[in-house]
Amino acid sequence: MEVERVQAVASSLMTAETIPADFIRPEQERPAITTYLGPAPDIPTIDLSLPDRDSVARAIAHASKEWGIFQVVNHGIPAELISRLQAAGKHFFDLPPEEKEAYAKPPESQSVEGYGTRVSKDVNCKRTWNDHLFHKVWPPSSINYRFWPTNPQDYREVNEEYTEYIREVVDGLFRCLSVGLGLEEKAMMEAVGGEELQYNLKINYYPPCPRPDLALGVAAHTDLSTLTILVPNDVPGLQVLKDGHWIDAKHIPNALIVHIGDQIEILSNGLYKAVLHRSTVNKEKARMSWPVFLEPPEEWVVGPLPQLLSPESPPKYKAKKFKDYMYCKLNKLPQ
Ligand code: SIN
Ligand code: FE2
Repeated sequence: MEVERVQAVASSLMTAETIPADFIRPEQERPAITTYLGPAPDIPTIDLSLPDRDSVARAIAHASKEWGIFQVVNHGIPAELISRLQAAGKHFFDLPPEEKEAYAKPPESQSVEGYGTRVSKDVNCKRTWNDHLFHKVWPPSSINYRFWPTNPQDYREVNEEYTEYIREVVDGLFRCLSVGLGLEEKAMMEAVGGEELQYNLKINYYPPCPRPDLALGVAAHTDLSTLTILVPNDVPGLQVLKDGHWIDAKHIPNALIVHIGDQIEILSNGLYKAVLHRSTVNKEKARMSWPVFLEPPEEWVVGPLPQLLSPESPPKYKAKKFKDYMYCKLNKLPQ
């Protein structure tokens, strides 16, 4: 096994009182010091089943401008399917190490797909308290089943069923985001790839951590996707930066958490904001989350929508192929 998994580090530390130095964040990042304790507003929650479609679109647009993140309820995905998705992912991470390693991301692979652990150190030279599994779920031509666990047996069926439902939700969200800016319903979806939009599923596994005050599961970032739709388990941890404060996302059972990513910020010429967020970890329990990243095809060019530009609103972002945007962001080069 080449990469040291955080799950293995965590098991070896069960009764320890500290964690290895490479996981200890500098003070300005530590959750115990930087989490806002004052009264804070909740991330907006939007009921997708309300009959007044215009008011749903307005609420989504408002949340995307003010927060860059919102939770959606009554989205049409059965609660029982969400439970099965969570159980299948948990089953995979509970397998013995050698069974999980069969899905490891090949070291030479250029793609993110596979079972992985971030080893490239971030700006502060620190590691994050997280292992993950990445695989594409849509469109069918992009799927590589080699990275889909076969244990549990229903993993594929459950993930395929979840993907069918998520696609409906995604279509609705893109329609609302378009209408919310006075654009044609299809404008945004067409501008990010239409039928070719890529759905990449990640399962985050954050093992119990003896010092959750010192570590982070995922350091502060905005997603490079268009939108990210995330299901958490019941262990809280997601935090968002709002008006200069790190605030906790409230756990709403069966809600989906929708993040505005960089590509929608660009497309909307900055009207919608990509949300800065991070994940903390828990002392006793494993936190898990299931984000689906919606990404344009690699060669697809994303830039501010011409309909939103005028002499008073000049473009704030350059148009770029998605793969070039990704390359710059991952290598911390200027955009
Ligand atoms: C992430 O932003 O990559 C993960 C957030 C979460 O686990 O809630
Ligand atoms: Fe993220």
